[in-house]
Amino acid sequence: MPGSSERFLEKAPTVSADMTFLDLEDSVAPLEKEAARDKVVNAIKNLDWGDRVMCVRVNAWDTRWTYGDVITVVSNAGERLDEIMLPKVQSAAEVVALDLLLTQIEANCGLPIGHIGIEAQIETTRGLINVEEICAASPRMETIIFGPADFAASMEMPVLTGGVQIPEYPGDHFHYVFSKILMAGRANGLQVIDGPFLKVREPDSFRDYCNRTRTLGYDGKWALHPDQVTILNEVFSPTQEQFDTAFAILDAYRKATEEDRKGAVMFGDEMIDEASRKMAVKFVTRGERAGLKPSAK
Ligand code: GLV
Ligand code: MG
Repeated sequence: MPGSSERFLEKAPTVSADMTFLDLEDSVAPLEKEAARDKVVNAIKNLDWGDRVMCVRVNAWDTRWTYGDVITVVSNAGERLDEIMLPKVQSAAEVVALDLLLTQIEANCGLPIGHIGIEAQIETTRGLINVEEICAASPRMETIIFGPADFAASMEMPVLTGGVQIPEYPGDHFHYVFSKILMAGRANGLQVIDGPFLKVREPDSFRDYCNRTRTLGYDGKWALHPDQVTILNEVFSPTQEQFDTAFAILDAYRKATEEDRKGAVMFGDEMIDEASRKMAVKFVTRGERAGLKPSAK
């Protein structure tokens, strides 16, 4: 949500997203940057955000606004704030710089040290080259995000819209990027999120795009519009059938290992073992977060 728009800020809590970020970066005009800080602080403090994850995207370190954004927002709204999102991260040092600044602000404001987490956006070629070090740069790192619009610009791809398919390319032009970011994130225990899809009036293409990163293993994707949130919640949550099957696998595997002392057993026509348990646990935790309950047998 653009941090300069009171109208959007007031609407944000009504959208059923798991996480909301209030933006001080690219959706805010340069002349509004400083004024937007107070609007964001007021929104965080005075609106009811429920239990969602609250985040503010500050400006990148290659601008003159970053430190002012972080100090104003965290000093004044740090209690309800969960994370700072750092855009256009190029190197691990940029994450370390934010970590150090956050530690000083937390100490001055009486917040527990480490209270504020970091989400980093990979959206430049240098950022992608350094993504492994970036993911490992600080214990505050919670999430790594792909930013397709800035990334396309950084690569000088001949496109004018961010985050959409390029029909002229025989394959997915971002496949390598998606996989590299996902691996770096997972290797460091982070959540991995895909960025925006800018054609907000094209729900079918949006769904296709969500399925693409969901299939690879991504945890979620950004929404720029409430209609996109509905599609995201659907695509990134397991179906009732997947949820029930995952439960049944866990049951069968528990019985096999604990009662029959076997590490591998048949589950219908399929052999299951410890790796199957790991896959099933993911479906169960995601399903529970989405409010699913096991069907009555
Ligand atoms: C998001 O910030 C993007 O550049 O895609
Ligand atoms: Mg961007």
